[in-house]
Amino acid sequence: MTRFSSQTDSEGRRIPLYDADGFAGMRKAGRLAAATLDFITPHVQAGISTAELDRLCDQFMRDAGAIPGTVGYHGYQHASCVSVNHVVTHGIPGDKVLADGDIVNIDVTPIVDGWFGDTSRTFLVGEVRTLAKRLVDTTFEAMMAGIDIIRPGTTLGDVGAAIEAVARRERFSVVRDFCGHGLGRVFHDAPLVMHYGKAGTGVVLEPGMFFTVEPMLNAGKAEVKILADGWTTVTRDRSLSAQFEHSVGVTEDGVEIFTPWAIS
Ligand code: MF3
Ligand code: CO
Ligand code: CO
Repeated sequence: MTRFSSQTDSEGRRIPLYDADGFAGMRKAGRLAAATLDFITPHVQAGISTAELDRLCDQFMRDAGAIPGTVGYHGYQHASCVSVNHVVTHGIPGDKVLADGDIVNIDVTPIVDGWFGDTSRTFLVGEVRTLAKRLVDTTFEAMMAGIDIIRPGTTLGDVGAAIEAVARRERFSVVRDFCGHGLGRVFHDAPLVMHYGKAGTGVVLEPGMFFTVEPMLNAGKAEVKILADGWTTVTRDRSLSAQFEHSVGVTEDGVEIFTPWAIS
């Protein structure tokens, strides 16, 4: 039986607290999610279509005995989201072919024994311009700055502020319309994890809280729009966007990253 924190998140929802079985379940699911991105890494090359990347991820997860958690999620049909250049998130795999100089985020969420492992990385395709590389490197740094301070007593406002500080330093903007989320035996749960905020505010982290940290940084303005397909989210000013995502758990004295990639 899952326990709950006495705190609620910014949406007023109860926040689950998981025990050792939860950590074991998320470790397995997270490792497979990370392994999926490691598997796909050498395929992320000019000339491959986003549909083919998705097909390969789908096969990899199913061969490992997992179910891609995105298939059938609110009507989504694919095993991954593949977001190229100015696509911020939720890019639908299709005919688009990667070209030299592109940046592409691949986001996967296998379900293993009922647990959801959620992770994404932004890859560089061939030779990439300085600005794009700096955006991708900064987004990774921002995610890790948020994760590195997680321990009991840290607040979600601290996490958001740490992410925002890295983005600001490089004059990039943080997308506000999409957030990290609690996860476990469900894909999207409390708490809501904002990638901006004020230090010292918000939920005080407790051992057993599970959530994602998944900042999206734009080279231009923070505003996004969702295309008519209902998923594809792009920057309004068509500037480049990058994202990284880990699933994490708060431990007694720090943080466990459930989705550690081997290849980077
Ligand atoms: N993996 C995304 C996240 O990080 C959610 C994708 S939902 C989908 O929360 F339906 F678009 F796949
Ligand atoms: Co997520
Ligand atoms: Co994700």
